[in-house]
Formats: sequence, structure tokens, C-alpha cells
Amino acid sequence: MSKYIVEDTRKVTTHRLVEMKRKGEKIAMLTAYDYTMASLVDGAGIDIILVGDSASNVMAGNVTTLPITLDQMIYHAKSVVRGVKRALVVTDMPFGTYQVNADEAVKNAIRIMKETHADAIKLEGGEEILPSVRKILDAGIPIMAHLGLTPQSINKFGTYGVRAKDEAEAEKLCRDAKLLQDAGCFALVLEKIPAALGTKVASELDIPVIGIGAGSGVDGQVLVCTDMLGMTADFTPRFLRRYADLHTIINDAVGNYINDVKACDFPNEKEQY
Ligand code: KIV
Repeated sequence: MSKYIVEDTRKVTTHRLVEMKRKGEKIAMLTAYDYTMASLVDGAGIDIILVGDSASNVMAGNVTTLPITLDQMIYHAKSVVRGVKRALVVTDMPFGTYQVNADEAVKNAIRIMKETHADAIKLEGGEEILPSVRKILDAGIPIMAHLGLTPQSINKFGTYGVRAKDEAEAEKLCRDAKLLQDAGCFALVLEKIPAALGTKVASELDIPVIGIGAGSGVDGQVLVCTDMLGMTADFTPRFLRRYADLHTIINDAVGNYINDVKACDFPNEKEQY
């Protein structure tokens, strides 16, 4: 376990997260998409690892999250789960796997749980997807909800700008948040909304609200691991804090390797058999 401030080394559960909110203890969540990164992030003491469908962008190089398939998400989630001992692992249901009808949604959610051994799933949307949410919860699968900027709807929004700035959209978001809590979701992600709205929703709900660009008044924060580690140099939203500059570190390391190979300096005497 890491040298940071995590003292409780027990596996994180959905109940523990609700308890953390009750005690005012902030929740730290990051994405991961593969075994090695998941082991590092878990070993450092993160509370929740999200196998986000942002894998479509940062792993596969797609422009949006829409193209990633259920099979591809299952592959990423299986790899992550193998690297995790403590964190709660949540897997995103990809676009098209829960919007058609509740029967298809529960079938796909069961597949994720059976094949990946993840602890929970995440879905984007409010009232529109409630029948799917209810059916999945009835099957015993914990759900983290996601409102605000929901990237699977980017073609409807037309922009990645801040959501719920006007009263009507803010009111719908508050209503949806309450409906999702009442249905039984264990947590809610709020993406790119005004900070005051994030604070209001978090104060009105009993379940933890995890923000990404939703201000500091929510119960926890989530970032995409490749962004916060500075691997993606060209992505610079206001909400992103970079904790490392891996882009420069990797670039320098690879450059040095190339130079050493070209100069016949690698491998040296000690690096061969
Ligand atoms: O897919 C993802 O990485 C996400 C986070 C941004 C919350 O949904």
C-alpha cells in the first residue's frame, strides 16, 4: 500500500463509499484501462477505478466514446480487475448497450459482471434510462449514474461545453439525480457543470457525488489517468490538473533510447549474455 494517506486497506465497497460521504471523507477516483496502470493506481491507494469508455479516446484514438464495443470494454475491464486489490472497480456500459430496452440492458450488464468480475457498472443519463436502471438494479448489479456532460450524447449536444447553465437544464439534472438515487444507484458522476449546481446536488443527495469539472463542493473527484499524468499534452480543459508530465518524460526516454541504439551504446557489455 502507498505512502499516502490511505490507512484502511480493506477492499472498497459501495457501502463504504456511502459511509465516506456521511463522514465527510472525500472520495478519489481515476480511470484505468489496463493491468499495469490499474496495479499502479490501486497500489497508490485510489478508492475507485473507473474502466471508462474514454478508453475509446485515449486507448483506441477515436474522436468520441461512441465506437467502443461491449467486447472491447470487457477486455479492458478484465485486464484492470486482474491488477486491483483494494479499489472498487466500475465499468462503463458503452453506447448502445443499455438504451434500446431494459431487457437488452440487463443482459449486457450481466455479461460485464460475469466476464470481468468488476464490482459495478456506470451508465449515462437520467429519466430516459430509468427502466434499464431499475432492471439492472433488480438483477443485483450496483450502478453508478452519470449526468451533466454525458459524452455518449455528444452528437445531440454538439459541443463539449459546460452543461446545465440554464435553469431548465439545471432543474432537470436535479430531478434526474433524485430519481436515480431513489431507484437505488449507489453513486453519481457529475461532469462539467457549474460548481454551485454540483454543490447543490451533493448536498441534496445521500449517495456520493463524484465530480469531473463540477467544482469542489461534491463528495469526490474523478480524472482520466492519462490526462492527470500529463500523457495527453493537447487536452487542456480548465478542470484538469496535471500531476506529472509523462509526455515529456516518455519523449525524453524514447529519444535517449534511440540515440543509444544508433550510437551502438545499447546494449553494453553488462546488458548482454
Ligand atoms: O469514460 C470516462 O472516463 C468517464 C469519466 C470522465 C467520468 O466517464
